[in-house]
Amino acid sequence: MPGVFLKNKTDKSFSKPTGLSSSYSEENKTVSTPPVQKLQELREKNKIALAGSGKEKRNKQKAGDRLTARERLNLLLDPGSFKEIDRFVTHRCTHFDMQKNHIAGDGVITGHGKINGKKVFVYSQDFTVFGGSMSRTQADKIIKIMDLALKNGAPIIGLKDSGGARIQEGVSSLGGYGDIMRKNVLLSGVVPQISAIMGPCAGGAVYSPALSDFIFMVKNSSYMFLTGPDVIKAVTHEEISKEDLGGSKTHTEKSGIAHFACQNDKQCLMMIRTLINFLPGNNLDDPPRQDCKDPIERRSEMLNHIIPEQAKKPYDIKTLIKEVVDDSFFLELKENFAPNIITGFARLNGYSVGIVANQPQVLAGCINISASIKASRFIRLCDCFNIPIVSFVDVPGFLPGTDQEHGAVITHGAKLLYAYAEARIPKITLITRKAYGGAYIVMGSKHLGGDINFAYPSAEIAVMGAEGAVNVIFRKQIQNSKSPDQERTKLTKEYETIFNNPYRAAELGYIDAVIEPSHTREQIIGALELLQNKREKALEKKHGNIPL
Ligand code: HXC
Repeated sequence: MPGVFLKNKTDKSFSKPTGLSSSYSEENKTVSTPPVQKLQELREKNKIALAGSGKEKRNKQKAGDRLTARERLNLLLDPGSFKEIDRFVTHRCTHFDMQKNHIAGDGVITGHGKINGKKVFVYSQDFTVFGGSMSRTQADKIIKIMDLALKNGAPIIGLKDSGGARIQEGVSSLGGYGDIMRKNVLLSGVVPQISAIMGPCAGGAVYSPALSDFIFMVKNSSYMFLTGPDVIKAVTHEEISKEDLGGSKTHTEKSGIAHFACQNDKQCLMMIRTLINFLPGNNLDDPPRQDCKDPIERRSEMLNHIIPEQAKKPYDIKTLIKEVVDDSFFLELKENFAPNIITGFARLNGYSVGIVANQPQVLAGCINISASIKASRFIRLCDCFNIPIVSFVDVPGFLPGTDQEHGAVITHGAKLLYAYAEARIPKITLITRKAYGGAYIVMGSKHLGGDINFAYPSAEIAVMGAEGAVNVIFRKQIQNSKSPDQERTKLTKEYETIFNNPYRAAELGYIDAVIEPSHTREQIIGALELLQNKREKALEKKHGNIPL
């Protein structure tokens, strides 16, 4: 018991160590190693390990808003909950005099702790030790913690700040990376994997975060790229800064690789804590449910007026989402990438839900390549971790254009369709306005296994918009008419009367209920409650072949 040892250290009358009888013999009065000395040795080792690479390097690291690897863990985890593993591990490299340079921990701090009381496994790369570079031993430490996360069914969070493969070690460090990546694949869909890029992440090292479920980046201090600006300049003669090539703005707006761009280290760590609240520990757990003080039956008169009379007039679907969910709290993912589709987490009556929504304010809510990729990956993530999907649909179709067709919108759109169809979590869909053509099918329709499908009275479920439809099927009639414009208007009105409503679909059972917008919250919560015990078995040994 440490308390006993502590007491003995200062106790002048100390003669016989307590609790260590095997190393102590009264007869020959030999003491193999006094426990006080052992304790001191341990304390000294701990002190040295905690000092890491020293004050000077730590101060360099702390320039700006950057924190040290340990400070990051302290902020990420509940106070006092961090327990370190492998503090004394050092590298085994003997090239380039490396045997003379050992720093305990070898550039990564690993262990476990709690976030809002929930167990998580963590590693935090320490840039002050060999630039946080990946040695074979660093990789082994990370793999050990990933294995523990897997066995214990808890999320793994990696805080990345590293110059990449430890150059002095050569292929053994590459082997370490490869083993980590394989482990990433093994853990995929079993426990949530979260990566925060808090410094450099370059070369093949980017693939471990790319394989994880969430990527956070810190503005102005993190970057990710396969080949850096110098290599690019040499090969393609393009000149670009690190930030423009692979900074947080680039990856949250252009490539869509990262989910969040955070102001600084602290905000990044707080965001991870918020995210964890929505996720279960593993694929067999339900996501954590929270107490809900927001009344289930809360009605919103505002929602009865949110859909504009004119079909082409945009409105902000996020206003609708926030009006419906608990306490208006919506954690949006990839906010600035493919903003024509919205993805994120919210709660309904305390249940964690994933939200997918077309955004009429951007590209009229059309689905394009980026939107398909963004939403399909999100739906699969929710399916992995038992988070029901609520879809809000207002979609005029797929975005037309040669760049879309030549960029394989067919394959990418099929991804979205596939993701909805294969998902076995509860799927609740609400059509607020347009649901045209293939996009109607794709967006969580009954045909893809939607469990409960609602529509507002303003819903228009049709093959296409009325004007487009009339131009196709009545082309000759319009051309031959004495007043084509009047004829077109008349036929458009007729088409609208027949199809620009939810009732044809409701007659066919494709829509389960047409609801008053003001009742949206209670209706969706009711559907969620209904589907709590949903069971849908996959075919044995089925491993589908999603169009990638
Ligand atoms: C060993 C490294 C290192 C590395 C940095 N250091 N990267 N040591 N292996 N990969 C050491 C430096 O020698 C230095 O040690 C300390 O870390 C801090 O580095 P600085 O260069 O002083 O820091 P800074 O100016 O901030 O520059 C950071 C950096 C730069 C941009 C990351 O260090 C750099 O370019 N490093 C090399 C990046 C790289 O090419 N990595 C390999 C990528 S390929 P001292 O003792 O002076 O403090 C790869 C393949 C992975 O990773 C494949 C996986 C499949």
